[in-house]
Amino acid sequence: PPYYLGIDLGGTNIKSGVVDDAGQSCSSVSLKTQATLGPDVGLETLAEAARRAVKASGLDWKEIVAVGLGSPGTMDIEAGMLLEPPNLPGWDNLPIRQRLADLLDKPTVLQNDANAAAYGEFWAGAGRDAKSLGLFTLGTGIGCGIIDHGRIIVGRHSNGAECGHMIIQMENARQCSCGAYGHLEAYASATALVKRANEALDEGISSRLHEVRGKGLLTSRAIAEAAESGDALARRLMRETARYLAVGAVNLMNTIDPDMILFGGGMIAAGTTLLNDIRGDIQSLAFPIPAARTVIEYAALGGDAGYIGAAGCARLMYGTSGPE
Ligand code: BGC
Ligand code: NA
Repeated sequence: PPYYLGIDLGGTNIKSGVVDDAGQSCSSVSLKTQATLGPDVGLETLAEAARRAVKASGLDWKEIVAVGLGSPGTMDIEAGMLLEPPNLPGWDNLPIRQRLADLLDKPTVLQNDANAAAYGEFWAGAGRDAKSLGLFTLGTGIGCGIIDHGRIIVGRHSNGAECGHMIIQMENARQCSCGAYGHLEAYASATALVKRANEALDEGISSRLHEVRGKGLLTSRAIAEAAESGDALARRLMRETARYLAVGAVNLMNTIDPDMILFGGGMIAAGTTLLNDIRGDIQSLAFPIPAARTVIEYAALGGDAGYIGAAGCARLMYGTSGPE
């Protein structure tokens, strides 16, 4: 003890778990987000995930000190409001922190999902020994979190570290979920990878992905797996993805000069080729000295980073932080 509850609100899944004072997970549950059903159903699902996570931990509700919620932005962290989150259509101008606190009857903090995940990795994952790190999460969108000398960078309006919306293409650029053009997210998120694969398949390029798509199973994971097993189209798509991510990473390295850059999210589960390709491209795009010093790794906590870090944010705000 003490214990904190973390919730990670994703475009596809809601993950929640109880976390102890050292950042170790005591339980975790996952529910479908059903974002399109709107915020009322969404808030109920968040609360349900939280209750189940506490139940699964075997702890008593009373033992939970506070709740941390990581959510896609844009948001106003101090006000506890979601503003215009592109990947949660219909959740605009939602006082999500207060609504959740009312449902759970616990002090609650709001944080950007990727900021929370970066803090999770820093606290208890791949960044345990780092002072400064940047994390990209590859999912429905591309999230980014920055820890600088132990502090989460949120910016003056809560929307710092939105590097998924970094512009990587100026001409003939793809449109992002946020409406603007040329953003990293529009090229290298899991959603964008599937979209690029669909376009190539529609052009009739031969690939075993036709069969995968026919079965309704064309996911970023399936594309990564097909690449690992030698499919030429899948390989090309993953190679391009690595290049986009390396551009994002180098832009971030030149901005914050961290100890490490981490990549997390579902897409990374299928082998190390993506990581090695990213590393290679970074070597050719970055200043030589930071390129040599900055550690480029996959995140260690996988899908748990978000709720662990969100619980960590609750601890930063409401923790008693004594020994015991
Ligand atoms: C949002 C970020 C979020 C990321 C991952 C982006 O589109 O702008 O706030 O961290 O998606 O959910
Ligand atoms: Na962020």
